[in-house]
Amino acid sequence: MDPNSPPKVEIRNVHQHVDQEVVIEGWLYNLRESGKILFPIFRDGTGLIQGVVVKSAVAPEVFANGRELTQESSLRVTGKVRAEPRAPGGFELGVTALEVVQLVPADHAYPITPKDHGVEFLMDHRHLWLRSTRQRAILGVRHEIIKACRDFFDDRGFTLVDTPILTPSACEGTTTLFEVDYFDEKAYLTQSGQLYNEAAAMAVGKTYCFGPTFRAEKSKTRRHLTEFWMIEPEVAYAGLDDIMPLAEELVAFVVRRVLDHRRAEIETLGRDIAKLEACTAPFPRLTYDEAVEILIEKGSEITWGGDFGGTDETLLSEKFDRPVIVHRYPSQVKAFYMAPDTARPEVALCVDVLAPEGYGEIIGGGERLADYDLLLSRIEEAKLPREAFEWYLDLRRYGTVPHAGFGMGIERVVAWICGLEHVRETIPFPRMLNRLTP
Ligand code: 4AD
Ligand code: MG
Repeated sequence: MDPNSPPKVEIRNVHQHVDQEVVIEGWLYNLRESGKILFPIFRDGTGLIQGVVVKSAVAPEVFANGRELTQESSLRVTGKVRAEPRAPGGFELGVTALEVVQLVPADHAYPITPKDHGVEFLMDHRHLWLRSTRQRAILGVRHEIIKACRDFFDDRGFTLVDTPILTPSACEGTTTLFEVDYFDEKAYLTQSGQLYNEAAAMAVGKTYCFGPTFRAEKSKTRRHLTEFWMIEPEVAYAGLDDIMPLAEELVAFVVRRVLDHRRAEIETLGRDIAKLEACTAPFPRLTYDEAVEILIEKGSEITWGGDFGGTDETLLSEKFDRPVIVHRYPSQVKAFYMAPDTARPEVALCVDVLAPEGYGEIIGGGERLADYDLLLSRIEEAKLPREAFEWYLDLRRYGTVPHAGFGMGIERVVAWICGLEHVRETIPFPRMLNRLTP
């Protein structure tokens, strides 16, 4: 590269280059023409900046090329950064040169225009839709949430231990398993890393895994994906009373981090920030019994022993201005590995955290069955194939201890923090009952 050529700069950093000439590599976001001046808006993935091309001030081909620019054409633009309080972002670029990398043909224009498109159209063009300002804001918040979760556990002495995606058995019930051919055997895409986390916790004490998990959910709701990401901590020598505060601290930490680091994105999304600011610990705690009473008062059809539906979760969350913790559900609605409450064996030592404003369950977890005989009988009752669980039973044969953990679904948290109507926008390429492409 010519040492005298202007530096390449990201749009987010243009404030460091006022009155200097810079090069920006990006795409055309929009173009407005006003007589002998063009106002192209450029984007580069880090921000937007308005360019100004004055016909009388540039070479004739620069102005001619600028006029022909189409939405999403890729380009390298050279220009001088100027402070301009009236421009969006506070800066503008006095364009001196334009190198078009690819001109999107005018007769084959970029399919997503500023007009309104239907959701299915946008989902079919998800690979392009991601370029929009709104989707970019969501991607940024998602990134921050994931990083915050990792920092939270890393800073508290947890060891990341990766768990497998191809597994020989179910973790969360056999009705939502994706089966795959594994040479001459059947394998399943993991529903949760938990069982392996329990092995890891016995090795390192405090562990977490973070990865994609799969549920063959036939439900078409705004909260369900078939592929979603889950962060799952597991702690040896811990019980329900240890992981409830852990879950609470994690959620409060993540919200705080997003408010501190991603305010611009949250504002872009039009999120009500005061509602997020309210989400500080401690969170209200209810037993399942208390939650059922509240629900009946609010007109739900629920009876003791049933699981909460999405509407029940929404009704409950409406009562509080921050996430609510519900513990001790009936064992019959929970997975086989849940430890019963010895004081009341019909309920499990489990916990769900429900997000406010009707965003539903974001965390599920609890204390695990540590007793060999009890665990074996639960595996048999659940009609799970014992052979596939022999290794899991080993954890109870060799130095079993009380232990507990939970899983937090990243997409539900993104939906809540960003204030999105549906989880389909929370993950770059959503997988749902009716969607496997792009
Ligand atoms: O409550 P779940 O099923 O719990 C478990 O899988 C435990 N084994 C986790 C553990 O204890 N290590 O799922 C945990 C969370 C839910 O609270 C929800 O946030 C999310 O995962 N989740 C989903 N998110 C999107 N789409 C789906 N189909 C989801 N199913 C669960
Ligand atoms: Mg759950």
